[in-house]
Amino acid sequence: MCGIVGYIGEEQAAPILLNGLQKLEYRGYDSAGVAVYNSTGLHVVKSKGRLSVLEGILEGGKSLPGTVGIGHTRWATHGAPSDVNSHPQVSDGGKFVVVHNGIIENYLELKNRLMGRGVEFASDTDTEVVAQLLEYYYTGDVLEAIQKVIARVEGSYALGILCADCPEKLFAVRKDSPLIIGVGQGENFIASDVPAILSYTRDIYRLKDREIAVLTRESIAFYNQELDPIQKEPERIQWDIDAAEKGGYEHFMMKEIYEQPEALRKTISPRIREGKIVLDDITLTREQIQNIRKVCIVACGTAYHVGVVAKYAFERLLKIPLEVDVASEFRYREPILDENTLVIIISQSGETADTLAALRMAKAKGCRILSIVNVVGSTIANESDDVLYTWAGPEIAVASTKAYSTQLAVIYMIVLYMADQLGSVSQEEMAQYMADLQRLPDLAAECLQDKETIQYFASQYFNAHDMYFIGRNVDYAASLEASLKLKEISYIHSEAYTAGELKHGPISLIEDGTLVIAIATYEKLFDKMMSNVREVKARGAVVLGITVQDKEEALKQETDFQFCVPKITDFMLPSLSILPLQLFAYYVASMKGCDIDKPRNLAKSVTVE
Ligand code: G6P
Repeated sequence: MCGIVGYIGEEQAAPILLNGLQKLEYRGYDSAGVAVYNSTGLHVVKSKGRLSVLEGILEGGKSLPGTVGIGHTRWATHGAPSDVNSHPQVSDGGKFVVVHNGIIENYLELKNRLMGRGVEFASDTDTEVVAQLLEYYYTGDVLEAIQKVIARVEGSYALGILCADCPEKLFAVRKDSPLIIGVGQGENFIASDVPAILSYTRDIYRLKDREIAVLTRESIAFYNQELDPIQKEPERIQWDIDAAEKGGYEHFMMKEIYEQPEALRKTISPRIREGKIVLDDITLTREQIQNIRKVCIVACGTAYHVGVVAKYAFERLLKIPLEVDVASEFRYREPILDENTLVIIISQSGETADTLAALRMAKAKGCRILSIVNVVGSTIANESDDVLYTWAGPEIAVASTKAYSTQLAVIYMIVLYMADQLGSVSQEEMAQYMADLQRLPDLAAECLQDKETIQYFASQYFNAHDMYFIGRNVDYAASLEASLKLKEISYIHSEAYTAGELKHGPISLIEDGTLVIAIATYEKLFDKMMSNVREVKARGAVVLGITVQDKEEALKQETDFQFCVPKITDFMLPSLSILPLQLFAYYVASMKGCDIDKPRNLAKSVTVE
């Protein structure tokens, strides 16, 4: 959460910082600020509210001259969104200015100690402790002060630091929160993520935990925690700049929904050769696969819902038990793990704090870690034994769509790869699965053609107070994701239930006019689903049913509205049934006038526990 950007060069810093922050707003957007050096000193301008408020104050950057600066867009953790709690945070004596992403967990203890020594604090933030500590330890060498601070603070941080005594330098350090260094000609950058600097450079370095960078206009030097100089390998970013722009769509979310067929193609096609799945450079051997006694999938949010689908596929095709957990629960529930447990970590950003902590815990217990990640070179990718990338391209909208679809595709490929290695499905079945996997991008495109039906349905119900999504088996997994999409961006209260569980409680919530969305694509349980639909209809519910084309007529008998998706191997059905429901959430939110790409209280990259 929170986005950091920094610039040192010949150009005016403020417009570059504002431009970078715009690209990072997905990381947090309750306040923003910049600090810039110029001939009159170090100036900080910050404000509560969206970045546009700050842009207005700074007249697009024109009113704050200077060629060195740092900027920040915030998602509040410690201290409510306010001008004073916004970053940059400044030390008492004005020597240090800091922007921070992460959480300083022991900030209270440090704050109390510093206050006991007469330091005055202005904000409620944990970040201010870093600025104050830097000044406290500073005796003329900024690197030494940083070294002492990182030895004292606990928690996670990506920090951009300016010191009033060094107007020609920009400092950066990180632990458990991402930070990259961009290399330019006579100018250099720091940023939380690539899009912030992509219009200026494609050459970057990724800082590792506790590495420190010192940037001047002409040089970048790296140091380890002992302050020994270190060498790092630069990396060239290959993706297209358009991928981080809206490209004619009103919102990133809509653009990303429509990018799904292509993202699926890019994720699947290179991994099929001569009719077989080829999984990149995966080091998992056949023998190791044979020894797997249990699979644990650990993730958060949408990525967790991918794990719920995976459970059905793994257990049916591989006969290997699979546990799926949200990372924040997994890490504290003392799961039974050993070297015969394969832990699959799923994360779009590759930086989610709980997911990363779960990975480390499982690794410490000797488990093999296979991760499914979208952001190349992210921490989760780096720390896993094997990584399979989802080639979805940058996902900017907070509500995940194309990451979900491509994560599902990777799950299908892992299952099919392992089934092949274990010989656990017949050749005939395998041929059908492989054919369906390859059809998936086209079928997804087909599902997205009929957006008018969904738009119309949304127009009828966008004022609803509550909605319920029901399904059985893989349709239940899709219900979870559909319900999350809706609540995230439209703020309508919605729940997902297994249809068979309705009668054990939730059915008491159904009254005249309550909207129920029944996902009934799983044909084996279609009739049972229709019984559940009848139960809610008998109590006054209005029902939108989603099924496969063969069942359309039967569905019409039971429901008020219908949407059909093509038939496909059953465990792949969520890849299709989710598509109209992503559109539904989008249209409902749009009709309600919600801020679709940046829903309230949420952030895309959650780097705090
Ligand atoms: C946040 C985002 C979700 C995402 C979840 C996990 O809550 O808003 O869209 O699913 O984090 O993020 P990850 O990057 O680990 O997939």
